[in-house]
Order: sequence, then structure tokens, then C-alpha cells
Amino acid sequence: MKKYLITITIITLLIWACGEGKNESGSSDSAKEKLAAKFGLTLWEYENGIGPIKEKIQLSELNMSKAKSGEQVFTIKCTQCHKLDERYTGPALRDVTTRRSSEYIMNQILNPEEMAMKHPEAKKLLVQYANKMTFQNVTQEETRAILEYLRSVNNK
Ligand code: HEC
Repeated sequence: MKKYLITITIITLLIWACGEGKNESGSSDSAKEKLAAKFGLTLWEYENGIGPIKEKIQLSELNMSKAKSGEQVFTIKCTQCHKLDERYTGPALRDVTTRRSSEYIMNQILNPEEMAMKHPEAKKLLVQYANKMTFQNVTQEETRAILEYLRSVNNK
């Protein structure tokens, strides 16, 4: 009877320990949440920026005609401050789709002032470039097209 009780206790402890283990590994999200909270942001805002884009956007195969129209907007509204391969008034953007999530990029384009005030990554850039990006009066659709253009120039 005693042996039986000991076995039960050991099994119970093992099950409990495994459960704890799961909590530990599942906690990486809550660790990120804590980090985000340190900056006064939700996890979504931390990973995807602050602005009108509040849900994952669907990315499919590169749409070259959308990328072309994005390039036109980019040439008119962004090239005064950005180049693809060199630092200019703002950072080089060829590999920005590798550095940031699509939603982050769209929020940065649609809401640059608030991003520079509240998001730790944008704040860093503000210091690094000693210059502030301003909203270029682009619609959400134009911004999506710019994203497609930025995806198309990233050859990684
Ligand atoms: C007046 C100059 C200026 C214009 C115009 C401008 N930007 Fe910026 N951009 C900046 C600066 C400076 C930064 C970094 C500091 C900040 O975020 O304010 C930046 C940051 C960015 C970032 C973030 C890069 C990263 O690594 O996180 C993206 C993306 C971006 N710009 C895209 C665009 C697009 C697309 C346009 C055109 C719609 C545009 N910018 C127009 C100056 C500009």
C-alpha cells in the first residue's frame, strides 16, 4: 500500500513538473508582452507598429502591377528622403521587409509621427537620423502598393 502511494505521488509530481515545463516554454510570449508593456505598448503594437493597421494583412505571391503602382507613389512621395541602398535623410529601404513586419512598415508609413513618439524602434531611428518622417498623405491602398514595391526590390 505504501509503495503504491509513493508511486502515485511520483507520477503526480512528474505530471506537475511537465505542466510547469509547458508554462515555461509558453511564457516566451508573456515575456515579450512584458517587454512591450515596459514601453507602454501592447504586444501587437510592439511587433506590428502603432497605427490604423491592426490585423495581419494577407501576403500572397508578389503582384507586379501593384508593385509598379507602388513604385510610382514611392518616387513621388518618398525618394526625397529615402534611397534603396544608401542612408539618406531616412534609412535605406531595400531590405526593410526583412527588418520589419509588413504591418509595421504600413503603420510607419501611415502614422509616422506617433510611431516616432511611442515605438522604441522608431524612436531609435529618430535619434540615429536626427530627422523625423512626416505623413505623406498616402491612402491605405497606396501604402499597400508601396509595401508590394518594397517586397519586390528586396532580393534576399
Ligand atoms: C521628410 C523626409 C521623409 C519622407 C518624405 C519619408 N520618410 Fe520615411 N523616414 C524618414 C526618417 C528620418 C525616418 C527615421 C526616423 C523616423 O521614423 O521618423 C524614416 C523611417 C521610415 C521607415 C522605417 C524604417 C525602419 O527601418 O524601420 C520606413 C519604412 C519609411 N520611412 C518609409 C517611407 C515611405 C514609404 C515614404 C513615402 C510614403 C517615406 N518614408 C517618406 C524620413 C522620411
